[in-house]
Amino acid sequence: MSGIILILALLFIKTINCKSPNILFIIVDDLRPSLKCYGDQEAYTPNIDKLSSTSFLFKNAYAQQALCGPSRSSFLTSRRPDTLNVYVNEYSYWRSTVGNFTTLPQHFKQNGYHTYSIGKVFHPGKMSNFTDDYPYSWSTEAFHPKTDAYTNAKVCIGKDGKLAKNLICPVIPEYQPDGTLPDLESLNEAVRFLKYKNEIADKPYFLAVGFHKPHIPLKFPIQYIGWSIGEHGEFAKYSNFDIATKVPLLIHVPGFSENEVIFSNPVELVDLFPTLVDLTQVSEPLKRCAFNKSEILCTEGRSLVPSIFKKSLNKNIPPSVAFTQYPRPGLRPTLQPNSDQPKFQEITIMGYSLRTNRYKYTEWVKFSIKTFKPNWDVVYGRELYDHVIDPDENNNIVDRDVLKNITKALRKKLILGWRYS
Ligand SMILES: *[C@@H]1O[C@H](CO)[C@@H](O)[C@H](O)[C@H]1NC(C)=O
Ligand SMILES: *[C@@H]1O[C@H](CO)[C@@H](O)[C@H](O)[C@H]1NC(C)=O
Ligand SMILES: *[C@@H]1O[C@H](CO)[C@@H](O)[C@H](O)[C@H]1NC(C)=O
Ligand SMILES: *[C@@H]1O[C@H](CO)[C@@H](O)[C@H](O)[C@H]1NC(C)=O
Repeated sequence: MSGIILILALLFIKTINCKSPNILFIIVDDLRPSLKCYGDQEAYTPNIDKLSSTSFLFKNAYAQQALCGPSRSSFLTSRRPDTLNVYVNEYSYWRSTVGNFTTLPQHFKQNGYHTYSIGKVFHPGKMSNFTDDYPYSWSTEAFHPKTDAYTNAKVCIGKDGKLAKNLICPVIPEYQPDGTLPDLESLNEAVRFLKYKNEIADKPYFLAVGFHKPHIPLKFPIQYIGWSIGEHGEFAKYSNFDIATKVPLLIHVPGFSENEVIFSNPVELVDLFPTLVDLTQVSEPLKRCAFNKSEILCTEGRSLVPSIFKKSLNKNIPPSVAFTQYPRPGLRPTLQPNSDQPKFQEITIMGYSLRTNRYKYTEWVKFSIKTFKPNWDVVYGRELYDHVIDPDENNNIVDRDVLKNITKALRKKLILGWRYS
């Protein structure tokens, strides 16, 4: 099962005797910014709020595609879906198909770090060669919870008292197979690893912990029921809307982010890799990737460190933009082919979006899976949303005459793409 991925990356960096800082990289699958620290007053998220009170909080952080596999491959290599040619899950492993690109954990491993993956970090399976990209990215084999085996098992008590395979499933963990849930196993393993590393204090570590929830199926400890999901009558959001692509992003740097500092300029998850390199100074800053795919170490994002410094000096942060994309098999929603999750061979249309501080501009254009290129002359649909008056993106104003010039400028920026942004 795969859904969209929304991510919360939390970093905890600790300097022991000038040793390279340790990194804790936490990924939460499908978590959107429905958190109190993101302004959602209904949300009860005390632990994340506590962390956010001493973190850099990015209010407008975007995944490059609202689907697990492409998004994870993208932020872990700092390259975009169009570079990796990855738009669907279970399709390809970038090292075999496009290039032997260095990943974020691999770069730290090659620079003296012990790197370890717990839970869902790389998209498991074919996209990471059935090894979570071990041994390239990780010092030891990745940890997967044993109870992952029961993801789709009949363990939810239905109204009739019988066990069923429900999508929403509050449970008592002790009564589950092996008496636990996958995320609890991952959590225990992370705690074990951190205690162990703190005791032996040898190499610095890069620990990535990927939690599955709130990704479907929603099997969770019963004490967390009482809240609601499914706004707009939807769970999955395989789209380019902010609700599908905007993710919570918190970066905690001890000694630096002593208070909550809020950034509202659009940033992208491809920015994580160069940002971590700059924050830890593990190597020279990453170069921006060239036009061809010959470089194995480079970034298609930008370090967020210059923005962090500007903010600390009370200087203005220059306007920035974020790009996202989503493929479709045809013009209308269909079950066959599945228009939410088309197979690679079925893709005929790509939706490209540009998010500026104020606007979201989207164009749905013809796309060739032979050349991996859009044809901007064949446009199927256009959307423009003004976030000042329409933060939920309900009112498409692309045909307003008064906005013609703005639309034209946004279109030009979208076609030129990230290299010129
Ligand atoms: C890919 O890169 C890794 C590490 O940088 C190297 O060990 C490996 O030999 C490379 N593989 C190929 C096919 O070039
Ligand atoms: C992927 O895994 C296969 C089977 O273990 C292995 O032969 C192959 O070399 C791996 N691919 C890369 C690029 O390392
Ligand atoms: C790829 O780009 C790099 C950097 O611009 C350049 O040095 C190299 O010659 C290019 N390779 C090809 C095959 O075009
Ligand atoms: C749009 O641009 C044209 C040409 O640059 C200019 O003449 C016109 O006044 C602009 N329209 C608006 C509404 O700003």
